[in-house]
Amino acid sequence: MSRHRALGKVILNGEHAVVYGVPAIAVGIDTGAWAESSPAAESTLYVRGWDITVHETMPATEEDRANEAPLGRAFRNILEETRSRQRAQGGTVTANVSVVAEADLPPGGGLGCSAAIGVAVARALEPRASADEIASRVMAWERVFHGNPSGIDAAVSASGGCVYFRRGKPMERVSLKSPLILAIGNTGIASSTKTMVEVVARQVEQKRDTTERAFEGIRVLVENARHAITAGDLAALGKLLDLNQMLLAGLFVSSEDIERMCGSAREHGALGAKLTGAGGGGSVVALAPTTDTASRIVSAWRNDGFSGFVTTVGQEPSAYTYGESSP
Ligand code: PMV
Repeated sequence: MSRHRALGKVILNGEHAVVYGVPAIAVGIDTGAWAESSPAAESTLYVRGWDITVHETMPATEEDRANEAPLGRAFRNILEETRSRQRAQGGTVTANVSVVAEADLPPGGGLGCSAAIGVAVARALEPRASADEIASRVMAWERVFHGNPSGIDAAVSASGGCVYFRRGKPMERVSLKSPLILAIGNTGIASSTKTMVEVVARQVEQKRDTTERAFEGIRVLVENARHAITAGDLAALGKLLDLNQMLLAGLFVSSEDIERMCGSAREHGALGAKLTGAGGGGSVVALAPTTDTASRIVSAWRNDGFSGFVTTVGQEPSAYTYGESSP
Protein backbone atom coordinates (compact mmCIF):
# COMPACT_ATOMS: atom_id res chain seq x y z
CA MET A 1 0.00 0.00 0.00
CA SER A 2 1.35 3.44 -0.86
CA ARG A 3 1.49 6.21 1.65
CA HIS A 4 0.57 9.60 0.18
CA ARG A 5 2.13 12.55 1.90
CA ALA A 6 1.20 16.20 2.16
CA LEU A 7 3.07 19.12 3.68
CA GLY A 8 2.25 21.51 6.48
CA LYS A 9 2.73 25.21 5.74
CA VAL A 10 4.02 28.35 7.36
CA ILE A 11 2.77 31.74 6.15
CA LEU A 12 5.68 34.20 6.18
CA ASN A 13 3.67 37.28 5.22
CA GLY A 14 0.07 38.00 4.35
CA GLU A 15 -2.35 35.83 6.37
CA HIS A 16 -5.87 37.21 6.79
CA ALA A 17 -5.28 39.90 4.16
CA VAL A 18 -5.00 37.01 1.66
CA VAL A 19 -8.68 36.22 2.25
CA TYR A 20 -9.41 39.71 0.77
CA GLY A 21 -7.26 39.28 -2.34
CA VAL A 22 -3.91 40.55 -1.00
CA PRO A 23 -1.00 38.24 -1.92
CA ALA A 24 0.71 36.10 0.71
CA ILE A 25 3.98 34.19 0.85
CA ALA A 26 4.14 30.76 2.44
CA VAL A 27 6.50 27.81 2.58
CA GLY A 28 5.80 24.09 2.80
CA ILE A 29 7.32 22.20 5.74
CA ASP A 30 8.03 18.47 5.94
CA THR A 31 5.93 18.03 9.05
CA GLY A 32 2.52 17.30 7.52
CA ALA A 33 0.12 14.44 6.99
CA TRP A 34 -0.19 11.12 5.18
CA ALA A 35 -3.02 8.93 3.91
CA GLU A 36 -3.35 5.38 2.59
CA SER A 37 -6.29 3.86 0.76
CA SER A 38 -7.47 0.33 0.03
CA PRO A 39 -10.49 -1.00 -1.91
CA ALA A 40 -13.63 -1.37 0.23
CA ALA A 41 -17.38 -2.02 -0.06
CA GLU A 42 -18.17 1.45 1.30
CA SER A 43 -15.96 4.55 1.37
CA THR A 44 -14.76 5.51 4.83
CA LEU A 45 -12.10 7.74 6.32
CA TYR A 46 -10.38 7.05 9.62
CA VAL A 47 -8.17 9.82 11.04
CA ARG A 48 -5.73 8.30 13.49
CA GLY A 49 -4.86 10.58 16.36
CA TRP A 50 -8.34 12.12 16.25
CA ASP A 51 -9.75 8.57 16.40
CA ILE A 52 -12.70 9.46 14.17
CA THR A 53 -14.18 7.32 11.41
CA VAL A 54 -16.59 8.89 8.94
CA HIS A 55 -18.61 7.28 6.15
CA GLU A 56 -19.51 8.39 2.67
CA THR A 57 -23.08 7.24 3.32
CA MET A 58 -25.08 9.97 5.04
CA PRO A 59 -26.13 9.13 8.62
CA ALA A 60 -29.65 7.64 8.53
CA THR A 61 -31.49 9.82 11.05
CA GLU A 62 -31.71 13.58 11.35
CA GLU A 63 -30.26 13.36 14.86
CA ASP A 64 -27.24 11.36 13.66
CA ARG A 65 -26.76 13.84 10.84
CA ALA A 66 -26.81 16.74 13.33
CA ASN A 67 -24.24 14.97 15.52
CA GLU A 68 -21.94 13.96 12.69
CA ALA A 69 -18.38 15.34 12.88
CA PRO A 70 -17.65 18.02 10.20
CA LEU A 71 -15.04 15.57 8.92
CA GLY A 72 -17.92 13.47 7.48
CA ARG A 73 -19.13 16.35 5.32
CA ALA A 74 -15.56 17.17 4.31
CA PHE A 75 -14.94 13.57 3.23
CA ARG A 76 -18.16 13.41 1.21
CA ASN A 77 -17.28 16.74 -0.42
CA ILE A 78 -13.83 15.64 -1.47
CA LEU A 79 -15.07 12.31 -2.82
CA GLU A 80 -17.81 14.06 -4.76
CA GLU A 81 -15.40 16.70 -6.08
CA THR A 82 -12.84 14.06 -7.08
CA ARG A 83 -15.38 11.93 -8.92
CA SER A 84 -17.18 14.77 -10.66
CA ARG A 85 -13.88 16.18 -11.95
CA GLN A 86 -12.82 12.71 -13.08
CA ARG A 87 -16.11 12.35 -14.97
CA ALA A 88 -15.71 15.79 -16.54
CA GLN A 89 -12.15 14.93 -17.60
CA GLY A 90 -13.29 11.55 -18.98
CA GLY A 91 -10.97 9.69 -16.61
CA THR A 92 -11.39 6.62 -14.41
CA VAL A 93 -13.70 7.32 -11.49
CA THR A 94 -12.36 6.43 -8.02
CA ALA A 95 -14.16 3.35 -6.67
CA ASN A 96 -15.08 2.91 -3.00
CA VAL A 97 -12.08 2.98 -0.69
CA SER A 98 -11.20 2.81 2.94
CA VAL A 99 -8.80 5.67 3.72
CA VAL A 100 -6.63 5.97 6.81
CA ALA A 101 -4.94 9.32 7.48
CA GLU A 102 -2.80 10.90 10.14
CA ALA A 103 -1.25 14.33 10.72
CA ASP A 104 1.90 15.23 12.67
CA LEU A 105 0.66 18.82 12.94
CA PRO A 106 -1.28 20.25 15.86
CA PRO A 107 -4.94 20.87 14.87
CA GLY A 108 -5.75 24.58 15.24
CA GLY A 109 -2.02 25.22 15.29
CA GLY A 110 -1.84 27.57 12.30
CA LEU A 111 0.30 25.15 10.30
CA GLY A 112 -2.37 23.99 7.88
CA CYS A 113 -3.30 20.71 9.58
CA SER A 114 -6.74 20.32 7.99
CA ALA A 115 -5.46 21.19 4.50
CA ALA A 116 -2.56 18.73 4.86
CA ILE A 117 -4.95 15.90 5.75
CA GLY A 118 -7.21 16.98 2.88
CA VAL A 119 -4.32 16.94 0.41
CA ALA A 120 -3.11 13.53 1.63
CA VAL A 121 -6.67 12.14 1.31
CA ALA A 122 -7.15 13.69 -2.16
CA ARG A 123 -3.86 12.09 -3.26
CA ALA A 124 -4.88 8.74 -1.82
CA LEU A 125 -8.09 9.01 -3.90
CA GLU A 126 -6.20 9.84 -7.08
CA PRO A 127 -2.42 9.61 -6.75
CA ARG A 128 -1.67 10.85 -10.28
CA ALA A 129 -3.58 14.14 -10.10
CA SER A 130 -1.41 17.27 -10.41
CA ALA A 131 -0.64 19.52 -7.43
CA ASP A 132 -2.94 22.27 -8.82
CA GLU A 133 -5.76 19.80 -9.35
CA ILE A 134 -5.37 18.37 -5.83
CA ALA A 135 -5.29 21.87 -4.30
CA SER A 136 -8.47 22.84 -6.07
CA ARG A 137 -10.28 19.62 -5.03
CA VAL A 138 -9.26 20.23 -1.41
CA MET A 139 -11.16 23.56 -1.39
CA ALA A 140 -14.41 21.57 -1.08
CA TRP A 141 -12.93 19.97 2.06
CA GLU A 142 -11.47 23.19 3.48
CA ARG A 143 -14.75 25.09 3.19
CA VAL A 144 -16.24 22.74 5.79
CA PHE A 145 -13.58 23.62 8.36
CA HIS A 146 -12.76 27.21 7.46
CA GLY A 147 -15.91 28.76 6.04
CA ASN A 148 -14.14 31.20 3.70
CA PRO A 149 -10.67 29.77 2.99
CA SER A 150 -8.34 31.70 0.69
CA GLY A 151 -6.90 28.40 -0.60
CA ILE A 152 -3.32 29.15 0.46
CA ASP A 153 -3.08 26.17 2.84
CA ALA A 154 -4.15 23.63 0.23
CA ALA A 155 -1.97 25.21 -2.49
CA VAL A 156 1.19 25.16 -0.40
CA SER A 157 0.47 21.74 1.09
CA ALA A 158 0.11 20.28 -2.41
CA SER A 159 3.00 22.09 -4.06
CA GLY A 160 5.65 22.71 -1.37
CA GLY A 161 8.57 25.10 -1.71
CA CYS A 162 8.09 28.84 -1.36
CA VAL A 163 4.91 30.16 -2.91
CA TYR A 164 3.52 33.61 -3.75
CA PHE A 165 -0.23 33.12 -3.59
CA ARG A 166 -3.20 35.25 -4.62
CA ARG A 167 -6.73 34.07 -4.12
CA GLY A 168 -8.18 32.63 -7.31
CA LYS A 169 -4.93 33.06 -9.30
CA PRO A 170 -2.42 30.39 -10.30
CA MET A 171 0.24 30.31 -7.62
CA GLU A 172 3.75 31.50 -8.39
CA ARG A 173 6.94 29.95 -7.07
CA VAL A 174 9.47 32.17 -5.31
CA SER A 175 13.04 31.07 -5.77
CA LEU A 176 15.18 31.21 -2.66
CA LYS A 177 18.66 32.68 -2.90
CA SER A 178 19.52 31.04 0.41
CA PRO A 179 17.71 28.52 2.62
CA LEU A 180 15.33 29.86 5.27
CA ILE A 181 16.02 28.61 8.79
CA LEU A 182 12.82 28.82 10.78
CA ALA A 183 12.01 28.25 14.43
CA ILE A 184 8.35 27.35 14.72
CA GLY A 185 6.73 27.61 18.11
CA ASN A 186 3.34 26.57 19.37
CA THR A 187 1.43 28.50 22.02
CA GLY A 188 -0.36 25.30 23.02
CA ILE A 189 -3.68 27.09 22.50
CA ALA A 190 -5.70 25.68 19.61
CA SER A 191 -7.49 28.40 17.70
CA SER A 192 -10.26 28.13 15.16
CA THR A 193 -9.32 29.56 11.77
CA LYS A 194 -13.01 30.06 11.03
CA THR A 195 -13.49 32.16 14.19
CA MET A 196 -10.36 34.24 13.60
CA VAL A 197 -11.35 34.90 9.97
CA GLU A 198 -14.71 36.06 11.32
CA VAL A 199 -12.96 38.41 13.80
CA VAL A 200 -11.33 40.14 10.83
CA ALA A 201 -14.53 40.00 8.75
CA ARG A 202 -16.37 41.94 11.47
CA GLN A 203 -13.68 44.65 11.35
CA VAL A 204 -13.93 44.82 7.58
CA GLU A 205 -17.66 45.36 8.00
CA GLN A 206 -17.45 47.92 10.81
CA LYS A 207 -14.21 49.79 10.01
CA ARG A 208 -13.71 49.31 6.32
CA ASP A 209 -11.26 52.20 5.87
CA THR A 210 -8.83 51.23 8.62
CA THR A 211 -8.84 47.53 7.77
CA GLU A 212 -8.30 48.30 4.10
CA ARG A 213 -5.32 50.46 5.04
CA ALA A 214 -3.93 47.58 7.12
CA PHE A 215 -4.38 45.23 4.15
CA GLU A 216 -2.63 47.69 1.84
CA GLY A 217 0.26 47.85 4.34
CA ILE A 218 0.45 44.07 4.33
CA ARG A 219 0.44 44.07 0.52
CA VAL A 220 3.58 46.25 0.52
CA LEU A 221 5.26 43.95 3.07
CA VAL A 222 4.48 40.88 0.97
CA GLU A 223 5.90 42.43 -2.21
CA ASN A 224 9.05 43.47 -0.35
CA ALA A 225 9.32 40.03 1.27
CA ARG A 226 9.23 38.45 -2.16
CA HIS A 227 12.18 40.61 -3.27
CA ALA A 228 14.06 39.94 0.00
CA ILE A 229 13.66 36.16 -0.40
CA THR A 230 14.78 36.21 -4.03
CA ALA A 231 17.75 38.43 -3.14
CA GLY A 232 18.67 36.39 -0.04
CA ASP A 233 18.34 39.49 2.16
CA LEU A 234 17.37 37.71 5.36
CA ALA A 235 17.81 40.77 7.59
CA ALA A 236 15.18 42.61 5.49
CA LEU A 237 12.89 39.59 5.52
CA GLY A 238 13.15 39.45 9.31
CA LYS A 239 12.09 43.11 9.60
CA LEU A 240 9.15 42.42 7.30
CA LEU A 241 8.04 39.61 9.63
CA ASP A 242 8.15 42.03 12.58
CA LEU A 243 6.19 44.68 10.70
CA ASN A 244 3.59 42.15 9.60
CA GLN A 245 3.18 41.09 13.24
CA MET A 246 2.41 44.71 14.20
CA LEU A 247 -0.30 44.95 11.55
CA LEU A 248 -1.77 41.58 12.59
CA ALA A 249 -1.84 42.70 16.22
CA GLY A 250 -3.71 45.80 14.99
CA LEU A 251 -6.31 43.46 13.50
CA PHE A 252 -6.73 41.87 16.97
CA VAL A 253 -5.55 38.41 15.95
CA SER A 254 -2.45 38.33 18.19
CA SER A 255 -2.44 37.22 21.83
CA GLU A 256 -0.29 37.66 24.94
CA ASP A 257 1.40 34.31 24.36
CA ILE A 258 2.14 35.17 20.74
CA GLU A 259 3.66 38.53 21.74
CA ARG A 260 5.70 36.85 24.46
CA MET A 261 7.03 34.18 22.10
CA CYS A 262 7.89 36.74 19.40
CA GLY A 263 9.68 38.92 21.97
CA SER A 264 11.64 35.98 23.33
CA ALA A 265 12.61 34.89 19.79
CA ARG A 266 13.97 38.39 19.03
CA GLU A 267 15.87 38.47 22.34
CA HIS A 268 17.48 35.16 21.44
CA GLY A 269 18.71 36.31 18.05
CA ALA A 270 15.77 36.00 15.62
CA LEU A 271 15.92 38.31 12.60
CA GLY A 272 12.18 38.71 12.98
CA ALA A 273 9.12 36.90 14.35
CA LYS A 274 5.36 36.86 13.93
CA LEU A 275 2.29 34.74 14.37
CA THR A 276 1.64 32.40 11.47
CA GLY A 277 -1.78 31.24 10.28
CA ALA A 278 -4.95 32.45 11.88
CA GLY A 279 -3.53 33.65 15.23
CA GLY A 280 -5.49 33.95 18.46
CA GLY A 281 -3.22 31.13 19.71
CA GLY A 282 -1.72 28.62 17.29
CA SER A 283 1.86 29.12 16.13
CA VAL A 284 4.60 31.69 15.68
CA VAL A 285 7.43 31.68 13.17
CA ALA A 286 10.87 33.19 13.79
CA LEU A 287 13.48 33.62 11.08
CA ALA A 288 16.94 32.67 12.35
CA PRO A 289 20.37 33.47 10.88
CA THR A 290 21.76 30.01 11.81
CA THR A 291 20.43 26.66 13.01
CA ASP A 292 22.19 27.24 16.35
CA THR A 293 20.24 30.44 16.86
CA ALA A 294 17.03 28.67 15.83
CA SER A 295 17.72 25.94 18.43
CA ARG A 296 18.37 28.59 21.08
CA ILE A 297 15.02 30.22 20.27
CA VAL A 298 13.22 26.89 20.58
CA SER A 299 14.98 26.15 23.93
CA ALA A 300 13.92 29.54 25.26
CA TRP A 301 10.31 28.81 24.25
CA ARG A 302 10.48 25.42 25.96
CA ASN A 303 11.80 27.06 29.14
CA ASP A 304 8.70 29.26 29.07
CA GLY A 305 6.41 26.21 28.72
CA PHE A 306 5.81 26.40 24.95
CA SER A 307 6.83 23.85 22.35
CA GLY A 308 8.69 24.32 19.09
CA PHE A 309 10.91 22.87 16.42
CA VAL A 310 13.43 23.98 13.81
CA THR A 311 12.91 23.51 10.09
CA THR A 312 14.90 24.60 7.07
CA VAL A 313 13.25 25.46 3.78
CA GLY A 314 15.61 24.74 0.92
CA GLN A 315 15.78 25.85 -2.68
CA GLU A 316 14.03 22.69 -3.88
CA PRO A 317 10.47 21.76 -2.86
CA SER A 318 10.42 18.86 -0.41
CA ALA A 319 10.71 15.28 -1.64
CA TYR A 320 7.23 14.73 -0.19
CA THR A 321 5.69 17.22 -2.57
CA TYR A 322 4.44 14.77 -5.12
CA GLY A 323 4.84 12.25 -2.48
CA GLU A 324 4.31 8.62 -2.50
CA SER A 325 6.41 6.55 -0.20
CA SER A 326 6.25 3.17 1.39
CA PRO A 327 4.96 3.17 4.97
O1 PMV B 1 -4.67 28.78 10.63
P1 PMV B 1 -4.43 28.20 9.28
O2 PMV B 1 -3.24 27.34 9.20
O3 PMV B 1 -5.64 27.52 8.74
O4 PMV B 1 -4.14 29.46 8.29
C1 PMV B 1 -5.16 30.36 8.00
C2 PMV B 1 -4.71 31.47 7.07
C3 PMV B 1 -5.75 32.59 6.94
O5 PMV B 1 -5.19 33.57 6.06
C4 PMV B 1 -6.02 33.27 8.28
C5 PMV B 1 -7.08 32.10 6.37
C6 PMV B 1 -7.03 31.72 4.90
O6 PMV B 1 -7.94 31.01 4.46
O7 PMV B 1 -6.12 32.14 4.17
